[in-house]
Amino acid sequence: MSNKDSILIFSGSANKPLASEICKVTNVPEGAINIKKFSDGEVSVRIEENVRGRDVFVIQPTSFPANDHLMELILIMDALRRASARRVTAVLPYYGYGRQDRKVEPRVPISARVVADLIQTMLPHRLLTMDLHADQIQGFFSIPVDHLYFAPVLAEYINSKNLQDLVIVSPDSGGAERARFFGKKVNGGLAIIDKRRPRANESEVMNVIGDVKGKNCLILDDMIDTGGTIGKAAKALKENGALSVICCATHAVLSGEAPDKLNEANFDEVVLSNTIHIPESKKINNLKVLSTASLFSRAIQIIHNEESISSLFI
Ligand code: R5P
Repeated sequence: MSNKDSILIFSGSANKPLASEICKVTNVPEGAINIKKFSDGEVSVRIEENVRGRDVFVIQPTSFPANDHLMELILIMDALRRASARRVTAVLPYYGYGRQDRKVEPRVPISARVVADLIQTMLPHRLLTMDLHADQIQGFFSIPVDHLYFAPVLAEYINSKNLQDLVIVSPDSGGAERARFFGKKVNGGLAIIDKRRPRANESEVMNVIGDVKGKNCLILDDMIDTGGTIGKAAKALKENGALSVICCATHAVLSGEAPDKLNEANFDEVVLSNTIHIPESKKINNLKVLSTASLFSRAIQIIHNEESISSLFI
């Protein structure tokens, strides 16, 4: 294989541990890149190796600080295009702004669409991502979007625990389909929390729909941000007689007091992915982090080899 036929992977600064792991599993060296900040906060990017004619992947979840990481991604892609990379794939293990995917009230932007437009301004050839807040966000792009799921990685782990009387709980009605899909993979029943959210970043649990008494409950969400949703869901499940409660989510947004809220909820286990790096300072009891690196590595190799990726979507 000539050098030009090999994969090149660059990382922004959002999640270097995940990017390093992906490179290791894919057996390619990390692309040399220099990212700095000027004194006024402007981002400065320099690609430190030749990318002419290469198939390049840029790994950058647009997690906190979302705007800085988005800007970094955009500048990296611009640098790559101007340096004549043959193909650029933006790899966003976490797609920030995803929750603002529709007009929920008058005179608000559809920010998830705006972010898609911004990314596409830099003319990437495709997008690789995981567990978008809403599947329809794929349609905000006019380039191909490969949308991976954390579910296969999580299901393998949960199945290894051999839990009896397992119930998958969606913390809101919007996540019911995700919970049902996951339940089939782990032979679990389904329950739904009827949640009302009076204001942004505030959740209020109303009712548990489904039988959770004496059951091992697994709450499944796409992300934990403030921890409010999942904390209140845990409380409701315990009040309804749940035997144990495990908390599972793909994206560890974990803003502000979220670790404290998770610890207060006293989960039997908190299972998260590494799409967003969890720093040591965020101390969460009974935490298990499952790596998505192998899945991203397989997707990258499949895209590179122009093979069918659908086997990864089940
Ligand atoms: C909401 O629709 C999402 O799926 C999550 O449930 C929510 O964003 C989690 O946020 P928080 O942890 O702040 O309640």
